[in-house]
Amino acid sequence: MNTLVIGAGGGIGQAVCRAALDRGDNVLAISRGAPPLQHARLRHLEGAANEHEVAAVVAQLEDYGGQIQRVVITTGVLHSDAEPRLFPEKRLEDINAAQLEQSFAVNTVLPLLWVARLLPVLKGKDPCVLAALSARVGSIGDNRLGGWYSYRSSKAALNMALQTAAVEFARRAANVKLLAFHPGTTDTTLSRPFQSGVPEGKLFTPDFVAAQLFSISDGLAPDGTLSYLDWQGQPIDW
Ligand SMILES: NC(=O)c1ccc[n+]([C@@H]2O[C@H](COP(=O)([O-])OP(=O)(O)OC[C@H]3O[C@@H](n4cnc5c(N)ncnc54)[C@H](OP(=O)(O)O)[C@@H]3O)[C@@H](O)[C@H]2O)c1
Repeated sequence: MNTLVIGAGGGIGQAVCRAALDRGDNVLAISRGAPPLQHARLRHLEGAANEHEVAAVVAQLEDYGGQIQRVVITTGVLHSDAEPRLFPEKRLEDINAAQLEQSFAVNTVLPLLWVARLLPVLKGKDPCVLAALSARVGSIGDNRLGGWYSYRSSKAALNMALQTAAVEFARRAANVKLLAFHPGTTDTTLSRPFQSGVPEGKLFTPDFVAAQLFSISDGLAPDGTLSYLDWQGQPIDW
């Protein structure tokens, strides 16, 4: 089986690479930096930062046409010390355009570009599951706490983009099943500043989350719809 991991350098991305290798898969690992790990069955392609790099990487995947059975897109940002600085907004006064734009660029635009450019590569006879890391806080129906305007809105927009893509994939690449996946709070750089309030036993390791993602993906078949599921495989309210 060939598994494509986009954002392979992040906490969950690296764990997905390890889990796929443990299953005996060949792994195509895409990240902005150095290879996340060295392995005979892992091929690393560098470049995932912008539209140009996405197109250049996808061009290198042409030989895998119809032969990729799993795609995991982990790309996402919640906070950053690099410019533009990002930190989840607590109230409306915290809103600024640069933070909103950067959140949408990373959480919505980049994953959607991957989905769009990958369609011709994924189209084929074999079933393929494409999972994008979303978040429960992207649920409009579930939003009772408020705050985190940029992150919430950009993940909600990602969900809508994926649902729209699912309609088109059903017509043009019906072998592909789309999944918006909420990993639960996972111990990575992304969640580190927000882990203190997490209940006992509810802070997951990236390896646990990767195992859940594979087990849930294995139970999905192409059906022309987007599933929005959490780490237990339970549906989340849109
Ligand atoms: N950790 C949690 O508790 C949690 C909860 C809910 C949802 N999620 C979602 O899970 C996904 C993975 O997060 P993580 O916890 O593994 O965090 P992480 O370790 O910070 O990884 C973030 C990933 O996003 C990519 N990325 C970040 N900024 C980028 C940029 N400017 N351009 C391109 N790529 C960029 C990184 O790509 P490189 O590989 O190129 O570095 C990395 O793979 C995210 O989409 C996140 O929203 C996480």
